Amino acid sequence: MSALLEVRDLVIEYRTGGYPVRPVDGFTLEADAGELVVLLGPSGCGKTSLLSAIGGILSPTSGSIRAGGVPVTGLSGRELTGYRQRQVGFVFQAFNLVPSLTARENVAVPLLLAGVGRRAALARADVLLDRVGLTAESGRRPGRLSGGQQQRVAVARGLAADPPILVADEPTANLDYIHAEGIIALLRELRADGRLIVVSTHDDRLAPIADRVIHLVPEFRSDEQPPQVQEYAAGEVIFEQGSRGELVYVVEEGAVEITRTRADGQRESVATVEAGRYFGELGPTLGFPRSATATALSPVRVLAMSVGDFRARISSSEAPARPAPPGT
Ligand SMILES: Nc1ncnc2c1ncn2[C@@H]1O[C@H](COP(=O)(O)OP(=O)(O)OP(=O)(O)O)[C@@H](O)[C@H]1O
Ligand SMILES: [Mg+2]
Repeated sequence: MSALLEVRDLVIEYRTGGYPVRPVDGFTLEADAGELVVLLGPSGCGKTSLLSAIGGILSPTSGSIRAGGVPVTGLSGRELTGYRQRQVGFVFQAFNLVPSLTARENVAVPLLLAGVGRRAALARADVLLDRVGLTAESGRRPGRLSGGQQQRVAVARGLAADPPILVADEPTANLDYIHAEGIIALLRELRADGRLIVVSTHDDRLAPIADRVIHLVPEFRSDEQPPQVQEYAAGEVIFEQGSRGELVYVVEEGAVEITRTRADGQRESVATVEAGRYFGELGPTLGFPRSATATALSPVRVLAMSVGDFRARISSSEAPARPAPPGT
């Protein structure tokens, strides 16, 4: 039996703004009904991109997504609309409710769009609002609901078509902790209903509620190596743009060129880093892929160290290395 959701080697790349950005690079996940999976990662690591692809809202650059055995990545047109309407519910960080409609009408909207009659759609909305504890508020517009209540309405709307998969993108980010707790408790209950719930968050305090936590950015390991000297011949690549790495480099001898490849394939020089300066600190510090390629211009000796050692070094009083020019 295959899993309810199977994501394989997913790549999402954006090519707007001159430089290719690849927030999702080879992501794989299998998850089943009754699971609450938390995707954990800092801002910009690709949470919304990933969930949008699972939700059928965004078409990935490569890789595949299968939901209930159906190849979502192969769907288009009416079939894709059908997938979005029946197989997956989407809860947005910013709730995205229609301000002029009541809670009840907001929940009914996806059903009305899918062709369900008004009376049946509103009856289903009543059941769902009861499920999320908002029966008394069903006639209110979003402006008269608290943030937590609005997010409950959004969860109810996501469940309108009774989809087997519910995807929630940072559903607690705009809520205080009391309301956040309520939403989490609700999502846990919903997974007990036999649904697959996939939640993204940048907040590792949510990790304990999950059946499974997937770290979108590798965690810093505790078994980090001490700083080590590395040598490169002229022309040798130290790291490539788009790769992930955990090391920060201080140049001890020689010079390193930092180049960036634009979306149109052209390579441009960003900086030359000489002895006493460091480079490569931003990617590992922020959990991003490398934004440029580093190549030895001459025979080079560098001291390669973990982010932890690097932080200790620049905050210590003894002659800290200076940064390379911006962009590295
Ligand atoms: N439509 C787009 N065009 C170009 N770049 C994009 C687009 N959408 C997202 N990006 C870039 O892709 C990267 C990942 O974005 P995404 O919104 O998926 O991350 P996120 O983890 O959801 O971040 P956040 O915590 O800020 O919501 C970011 O660098 C972002 O700037
Ligand atoms: Mg996001």
